[in-house]
Amino acid sequence: MKIVVIQGPNLNMLGVREQQVYGPMRLEQIHAQMKDVATQNGVEIEFYQSNLEGEIVDRIQECYGDADGIIINPAAYTHTSIAIRDAISAVNLPTIEVHISNIYRREEFRQKSMTAPACTSSVIGFGPFGYHLAMVGMMQILSEINAMRQAQAPAQQGAEEE
Ligand code: DQA
Repeated sequence: MKIVVIQGPNLNMLGVREQQVYGPMRLEQIHAQMKDVATQNGVEIEFYQSNLEGEIVDRIQECYGDADGIIINPAAYTHTSIAIRDAISAVNLPTIEVHISNIYRREEFRQKSMTAPACTSSVIGFGPFGYHLAMVGMMQILSEINAMRQAQAPAQQGAEEE
């Protein structure tokens, strides 16, 4: 089971940028905690951060046939990027959108997510803890998918044998 975590522009500045909004935790610390949870649960995890829209689209596309789920914070591209939304729809993997801040309590331009409708679910406004919630949520989604596949497998086998 493999989860890919994709971080958008300026999230490499966490711990430095607007601490009153995003808190003091650095991205590496957030990722270290996610890695611990993944290891404890026998899940493979990869992290990617980019400030460039096209690179994020490329990384999402690379998940096709390789990853089982995506956790993404598209950051400012959340509010503008049809390209990232289309990439999420294209790969059709369980995808959780994370926002550290509560975008619905902030400026009007942040209150619309272009990307969320393409995602399975969203975690918003829990601070960096939201990434942990997304990990737990993703593992739940993936185990439900697994259970469903296993339940279907014997039925399919039976049908083939008839
Ligand atoms: C953010 C919210 C966005 O509006 C902003 O541009 C970010 C971070 C969040 O995690 O709260 O860079 O995605």
